[in-house]
Amino acid sequence: MASDGNAAIDELQVLRTQFLSELKDCRDEKCIEAVRIKYLSKKGLLPGKFALLGKLSPEERPKLGQELNRLKTLFQTSLKEKLKQIEFQKARASKIDITLPGDRDYPGKKHPLLQVLDDIKKIFSEMGFSIEEGPEVESDYYNFEALNIPKDHPARDMHDTFYLPGGYLLRTHTSPVQIRVMEQQKPPIRMIAPGRCFRKDTPDASHSPFFYQVEGLAVDQNISFADLKGVIAVFARKMFGRDVNIRFRPSFFPFTEPSAEYDFTCVICGGKGCRTCKGTGWLEISGAGMVDPEVFKAVGYDPERYTGYAFGMGVERLAMLKYQIDDIRLFYENDLRFLEQF
Ligand code: PHE
Repeated sequence: MASDGNAAIDELQVLRTQFLSELKDCRDEKCIEAVRIKYLSKKGLLPGKFALLGKLSPEERPKLGQELNRLKTLFQTSLKEKLKQIEFQKARASKIDITLPGDRDYPGKKHPLLQVLDDIKKIFSEMGFSIEEGPEVESDYYNFEALNIPKDHPARDMHDTFYLPGGYLLRTHTSPVQIRVMEQQKPPIRMIAPGRCFRKDTPDASHSPFFYQVEGLAVDQNISFADLKGVIAVFARKMFGRDVNIRFRPSFFPFTEPSAEYDFTCVICGGKGCRTCKGTGWLEISGAGMVDPEVFKAVGYDPERYTGYAFGMGVERLAMLKYQIDDIRLFYENDLRFLEQF
């Protein structure tokens, strides 16, 4: 009868495997309940196996009985565990509502002004200009005196200056960087100096008390106004496209002689005349000119030997043209709805 006992145990093993695999495939409570009924209800498969006991000898019965009870416990705990597992999964799933719109990513980006500054730096680097920097807190000497703007000179009125204690000030333009570089280096020089400047202007659509300028300077033997025009023209076309023209109008700056203000073809109307260019077809960019011999004297360059040109550039103005923005204040309000567009 020993073989009968073993056969019964084998049958239970098969049942066990079958039960576990069916339970494993369950995905909801309904399925678990069905498995429970199939194996554990009164007429279920496991109670059915208790009939095997009757076929066994009294010696073999306890072993099979034990095995049947072990299996019953195993089935019961497995069902409970599976139920818990499904409940947990449901709870977790309910926290993730796949019908909700996804969270938006806000990847960090460069401010539009810094993007335009990058464009400017790239264009001039490609033309062989180095990139220099100077301090935002300047002395009166670098911001004015060395640039041929002595005290009480009427040109100082153009610069509504924030004065600081001890003869310092917030630089009103990037031209002082010209002086600092020439003091440190011998010609030939080809540099641009991007940086922030400050003037006591009341904010409006075209004025901000702080703004970015890019200073340009080239000093060598035989540098002429034609070189200046060439460099500005190349810049204008690389920045705004081949159709952009440039024009120079006579002007005055104490540190350049002759001096000019230069304009680009209005990028909004292409030169036909519109509101942005006030019907002229031209947009004012900044000032430029040939370095005044007085400036060379201040830095110890021989004005007989060297000539040079200098130019300024208003970065906000270039950015406003590039992106067709009509109010400079937008750059400084840090409104995400604005900044996200770049
Ligand atoms: N520094 C002048 C300004 O701020 C611009 C300029 C730069 C003019 C260099 C001539 C040469 O208006």
